Amino acid sequence: MKIAFFEIKDWEKDYIKKRLKNHKLIFFKETVNESGVDSMKDVNIISVFIYSKVNKDVLNKLKKLKAVVTRSTGYDHIDLKECKKRKVKVYNVPNYGQNTVAEHTFALILSLSRRINRAYDRTTRGNFSFDDLEGFDIKDKTIGIIGMGSIGRHVARIANGFEMMVLAYDPYPNKVLEKNLNFKYSSLNNLLKNSDIVSLHCPYDKKSYHLINSRNINLMKKGALLINTARGGLVDTTALVKALSSGKLGGAGLDVLEEEGLIKEEAQLLSSKFPKERLKNLLEDHLLLTFGNVIITPHMAFYSTEALQRILDITIRNIECISKNKVCEAIVE
Ligand code: NAI
Repeated sequence: MKIAFFEIKDWEKDYIKKRLKNHKLIFFKETVNESGVDSMKDVNIISVFIYSKVNKDVLNKLKKLKAVVTRSTGYDHIDLKECKKRKVKVYNVPNYGQNTVAEHTFALILSLSRRINRAYDRTTRGNFSFDDLEGFDIKDKTIGIIGMGSIGRHVARIANGFEMMVLAYDPYPNKVLEKNLNFKYSSLNNLLKNSDIVSLHCPYDKKSYHLINSRNINLMKKGALLINTARGGLVDTTALVKALSSGKLGGAGLDVLEEEGLIKEEAQLLSSKFPKERLKNLLEDHLLLTFGNVIITPHMAFYSTEALQRILDITIRNIECISKNKVCEAIVE
């Protein structure tokens, strides 16, 4: 098979070359639109990221194309209708970072519960006093997980390991899961009232916009922590700032901020095409940065060596499936 990879980084190139030795591989730093597709009439598979627009124009030029393999979860950059017409299969990377994001969630929780950021800040300045750094145990505390999908489930598993009690809110409850993962489903309000730590793991859409807002944030326990590694728009920032200023909340761990609307796909943050200056400005402007009991990370919960490799491994598996004519889950059959 002749396979063309677009929007590829050097380390990815080396990794792929070692694993797809039996194919003719060509690599481009540019998108499929920027590179000269005209010279690739005999390419059988293209692997792209979200800045490559796989449209009618591109498909018309790639006469021998059998499959499009995107190294992303989302696939709205690919014209599925046009692919179907030409019997071109489309593959994506549906899950690559469930445990990765769940682990980052606990990194934020433990940093807040044991005042790690404040302690670190102090010791780097030569101050070894632990005045005001008293933390709290998370054992026997209740964590409320909003969204019991792949990431939420990993959070529940880790919470079980810490001997925490687990409440969950999800519009699509699964009773078997509830039993197996030792948690209790609850209404959103009940979860907010009874959790010491509330962690968001649901998608952001019109329905979940400001799921945590000025009305229901007041239901939360005094001193509770709010953790958001999902999407910034799930939390009304004004309500959060108010709850932190009044002491209603004990702290917040945020990997995502409300103004980050331009981010669709985590790996977008790694691309040279993503305007990182904008993210920096957002963070700098944010009032939340000034709170000692708030930890903000720059939307990096997905960012581990293993998760990045999983993206490539799933892409390679997809390509092997195609080349061996094996049944493999494709978006367009
Ligand atoms: P998933 O699709 O496996 O699970 C989402 C769960 O949320 C489902 O069980 C669904 O029924 C539930 N849900 C839907 N609407 C809800 C609502 N209004 N209230 C409560 N629950 C609701 O998704 P997954 O993989 O667990 O990811 C969750 C979110 O995490 C993603 O939508 C994404 O925004 C975010 N994410 C963040 C990353 C980061 O680096 N910070 C990396 C990957 C994902």
